[in-house]
Amino acid sequence: MNLNLQHWRVELDAEGVATAIFDKAGESANSLSVAVMGELAQILDAFERTPPKGLIFRSGKAAGFIAGADIQEFTQLDTPEKGRALVERGWHLFNRLAAVPYPTLAVVRGHCLGGGLELALACRYILAVDESGTKLGLPEVMLGIFPGWGGMLRLPQRVGPALALDMMLTGKTLDAKRAKKLGLADECVPPRVMGPAARQLLLSGQARRPLPFMQRLLNGPLKAVVANGARKQVARKARPAHYPAPYAIIDLWAKHNGNALAAPEVVDRIISSPTARNLVRVFYMQERLKGFGKDVDFKARHVHVIGAGVMGGDIAAWCALRGMTVTLQDQSVERIAPAMQRAHKLYTRKLRDPLKARAAFDRLIPDVKGDGVAHADVIIEAIFENVEAKHALFKSLEPRMKPGAILATNTSSLKIEDLRTVLQRPERLVGIHFFNPVAMMPLVEVVEAEGCDPQAVQAACAFVRQIDKLPLPVKSAPGFLVNAVLAPYMLAAMRAVDEGISPETVDEAMLAFGMPMGPIELIDTVGLDIAMAAGKQLAGGADAPKCLLSRVEKNLLGKKSGQGFYDWSSGKAKKGAAGGVPAGLAERLAKPLVDRVEQLVADGIVSDAELADAGVIFGTGFAPFTGGPLHYRRHTR
Ligand code: NAI
Repeated sequence: MNLNLQHWRVELDAEGVATAIFDKAGESANSLSVAVMGELAQILDAFERTPPKGLIFRSGKAAGFIAGADIQEFTQLDTPEKGRALVERGWHLFNRLAAVPYPTLAVVRGHCLGGGLELALACRYILAVDESGTKLGLPEVMLGIFPGWGGMLRLPQRVGPALALDMMLTGKTLDAKRAKKLGLADECVPPRVMGPAARQLLLSGQARRPLPFMQRLLNGPLKAVVANGARKQVARKARPAHYPAPYAIIDLWAKHNGNALAAPEVVDRIISSPTARNLVRVFYMQERLKGFGKDVDFKARHVHVIGAGVMGGDIAAWCALRGMTVTLQDQSVERIAPAMQRAHKLYTRKLRDPLKARAAFDRLIPDVKGDGVAHADVIIEAIFENVEAKHALFKSLEPRMKPGAILATNTSSLKIEDLRTVLQRPERLVGIHFFNPVAMMPLVEVVEAEGCDPQAVQAACAFVRQIDKLPLPVKSAPGFLVNAVLAPYMLAAMRAVDEGISPETVDEAMLAFGMPMGPIELIDTVGLDIAMAAGKQLAGGADAPKCLLSRVEKNLLGKKSGQGFYDWSSGKAKKGAAGGVPAGLAERLAKPLVDRVEQLVADGIVSDAELADAGVIFGTGFAPFTGGPLHYRRHTR
């Protein structure tokens, strides 16, 4: 064909079957930019003149099918017209694709997200290639926007509205097998047969599987019922003032059949909202964290964890889940057993497939004698928080370690400078500080003390990426970043309780501000004894709040003891009604946190404001729609 394309290659075989190979110029991953969409329109123009027998879309990248729309372009939408034009472009183009007279098929291998899935949905068939990277989803909501290029129309038609809304409102993705099982993909095949399988399906003439009758009702006359249920579910997690996009998705689907152009005021509101801008910022901050350790050639195969307690046990389990061989050491088998049980639960829940769960469990090896030390690429110490104990351990470890292996401590409150004094090569000790619960918390602080080997720090970042967490490089200082900013915040919350404001009211103030959990409930979750110890270290000598002291004296330690500020006997905090929130309370409680972040940036504990915002968002859940504490301060003053 006589087309002048930069981002696509079009091949036509002897039988007239065309393949459009998407290989975005100058990028390692495919995304849908104005130029890419323009070229796709040209391809459709050409095929309108001379239709092929069928058209297959596939990716020319190793990295996946299509990652989504070009996010860079979102940051340039400074007028409502530009926002609407962006929606229009994809909506019309994919409608056109959906209406072509010849059969079309998308070969989905690797990620197929956002606009990428909307393209695939506009094809007659979707063939999912069964490999570990394959993921299909519409995660626009996580950027504060909606799938406006036909996703809100076509995903419910393919899989029914309940699953479609769940995917669009949470951003969750499906792997190849589940995509097939749930009707999103027409076929799921292993990579070695994908070529012939794609051709066969394309030319099969096979009708699409119709939605079951009930699902058609729910996607038709009963839409309002489904929408009401969905609104209630969203309301439990996100307030409309903070996160307007999920509510817009429900309305656009229910009232306008997924056509955002029918409700231009909604498009304007969402695209110009600070939330969308801030969430895009958060996306880029996350990408920045993902970049740490990228340039070093370090790959861990074997991890050795010492201390099978709350943290060590879960760190070990997580590493094995991510594919590494893990030896887990503690003083006795009995001490390792609970960690193994938790790991088993984690694998069953996360992997679903019993064979894969079994394989992960086989990679996690109890190791009382510490035989793993000599083979490990990474050694993580997570024993009691006690300098002498850690010294004795490090002394015995060092002579047995492989030369290039990382030696890391998970300590929360001890100084690396004090811990490494017993080492022959003190510069090799780094902090790799996880958060509890390990499986839930995306951030890991990588702690560098003065004189640390920079290569060890880089390798530690690379390791953190390898286990799919977000590394945040920080300098050695009490509480690093995350605990250091939480301490004054929790203190302020407890001072408010001392003043007579109820815990419920304090928590409600911060939930309304956009925190994922109120500070008092957070203290109950962390444990009042731990809050007390952290306070002593981080509060700069201030007196402990009375409400904390009195409870700790009575051994009311929070969730773990069944009672703290709240009654936890049912496993959940039993909260009474929150009183009216005094004006300015949330800002007053957030202030010490934001002040501390500023201070830590000024002190160079974290290298710049953007990284500090990223760390606080991913380490504490600080209201993402604000774009982070420092961003929030700059924009509310
Ligand atoms: P834990 O008390 O639950 O577990 C410690 C484990 O280490 C116990 O099973 C103990 O038997 C074992 N142990 C002690 N000495 C040992 C030795 N010489 N050799 C082998 N095993 C030994 O403690 P947790 O909470 O897991 O904390 C561990 C470390 O992680 C501490 O340094 C703590 O500061 C840090 N940390 C704790 C967090 C938390 O939320 N609990 C969060 C982040 C870090």
